[in-house]
Amino acid sequence: MYRAWWKEGVVYQVYPRSFLDSNGDGVGDLQGITAKLDYLQGLGVNILWLCPVYRSPNYDNGYDISDYYSIMDEFGTMADWEELLSEVHQRGMKLIMDLVVNHTSDEHSWFVESRAARNSPYRDYYIWRPGKEDGSEPNNWASEFGGSAWEYDEKTGEYYLHLFSKKQPDLNWENKRLRREIYTMMTWWLDKGIDGFRMDVINLISKEPTLPDARRRGKGSLPWGREFYRNGPRLQYFLREMHAKVLSKYDIMTVGETPGVDPEKANLLVAEDRHELSMVFQFELLELDYQDGDKWKIIPWKLSDFKKIVNVWQERLEGTGWNSLFLNNHDQPRAVSRFGDDGTYRVQSAKMLATLVHTLQGTPYIYQGEEIGMTNVRFPDISYYRDIDTLNFYEEAIRSGLSPQEVLETIYARSRDNARTPMQWDDTESAGFTTGVPWLAINPNYQAIHVKENLANPESVFHYYQRLIQLRKERLVLVYGDYHLLLPQDEQLFAYLRTPNIKTGPGFSEKQLSEVRRAEDELFQDADQEKILVVLNFSKQPAVFVLPEKVKFQTDQLLLSNYPTRPETPTRLELRPFEARVYALK
Ligand code: GLC
Ligand code: CA
Repeated sequence: MYRAWWKEGVVYQVYPRSFLDSNGDGVGDLQGITAKLDYLQGLGVNILWLCPVYRSPNYDNGYDISDYYSIMDEFGTMADWEELLSEVHQRGMKLIMDLVVNHTSDEHSWFVESRAARNSPYRDYYIWRPGKEDGSEPNNWASEFGGSAWEYDEKTGEYYLHLFSKKQPDLNWENKRLRREIYTMMTWWLDKGIDGFRMDVINLISKEPTLPDARRRGKGSLPWGREFYRNGPRLQYFLREMHAKVLSKYDIMTVGETPGVDPEKANLLVAEDRHELSMVFQFELLELDYQDGDKWKIIPWKLSDFKKIVNVWQERLEGTGWNSLFLNNHDQPRAVSRFGDDGTYRVQSAKMLATLVHTLQGTPYIYQGEEIGMTNVRFPDISYYRDIDTLNFYEEAIRSGLSPQEVLETIYARSRDNARTPMQWDDTESAGFTTGVPWLAINPNYQAIHVKENLANPESVFHYYQRLIQLRKERLVLVYGDYHLLLPQDEQLFAYLRTPNIKTGPGFSEKQLSEVRRAEDELFQDADQEKILVVLNFSKQPAVFVLPEKVKFQTDQLLLSNYPTRPETPTRLELRPFEARVYALK
């Protein structure tokens, strides 16, 4: 395992539309982000990830790009973007950009040309097929956003594939010329000095070429075709080509968004000797409470299952790849509402969850507003919602006979707009986000939850994040150390040790592995080696933690806790609701 800036850093994800509006049009913008760089630097993060800021008709808030080389008018100009980049770099921070190349907007000039005629030179940039004999869709795949994944185009009498909305036609990566255009575009941004890419649904770019009908259960009456487009046959080839032609020429980080990837597949993408990506976002953890891979079907989750997933990812990538650590983003509900408690224990549980994210092996990601404990929102009716996925779901669910109230309950738990309500800066009107009318309503709890209060209050969620980030900078064992789960079956407590990393590199033989395991056992016994002990109470009830006998130590130091501390030796701890403790044992 080698050291890298992107392993030791902390990423902060900005959703520009909802961050800060500098000109009163109700939409966050680039100047708004630049104005808050000192705030972010104060938090301690050092890598910013910007969700898409390219020209877009905004049917999917920028994930439908109509020009990769221009800035979206609502967000500002290229000069604003240049200024943001230079201000980021002046503060010693890095900037990574979203790369959306599974699809474009249907308003991108490539698609406009492509749909103009069957013999257009751009026809093959997208995936066109004639209908079946009866004229129906070429196959039975469902779009991730509901309905069929195919749209019929009158003009040329064929269908095009769109795994997301029909305003987002999928690009045909089998076309060499298209791939070359994408690499040129990536190079153009890298030459402007950016520090990497977050790659949108990058494991969907290779489709099974025959596009067969899918059999598995899926959305409503249609099956997903996921087995034919997730981690498709040529994914590795495309990524290796991209690495050779573009990525390898720069000192950058890349993180691939890869739904449906397990640790084995992830290792194919991130293994350090394979030269594809630095890390991936996996969704096994955040799909823990989905039924049949459908986020709108909610099932209860158990802490033991949650730990099992974390554990497998920590162990399977150790020494070969690198984990990304996150509990929410712009597509997910707020972590504190989902895995913590956004009522009585909002502050404590937000801090507890933060402790998990910042003390595992991998790179932590903070989604804007998480650092002040922002929560999900419950808007009174559907007219408040803006997210295309939510609106499609609402329409389908009402059509299937559910009542608006029933559908809203699911939306409260799952809508992407939970994460997209504007950032709450203060308790003035519109939470200090805009002087105009916000594009999406502010969460009504802004009068209690906002940045200004967080900065003034030394016990705030913000200050706790600051300490966590600091701690990670001071103790490299928190970044690189091995991870050992304790009490796997416990349904209240998540407890683990981080120990100095004694592995030497990828590709161990069985014999080497057993030596490493023996050495790890000795390490547990070795009282001279500093170990980090993390104990988290994931429940509303008090919990008792008993340290397993095999962990020996002479001195202990409490490094961090989310409650007023009391002297206790961590051989036995009484934890309050959602209490988190981090100890150094020696
Ligand atoms: C990714 C993005 C999401 C977007 C989708 C289609 O999942 O994170 O916001 O809607 O891809 O681009
Ligand atoms: Ca604006």
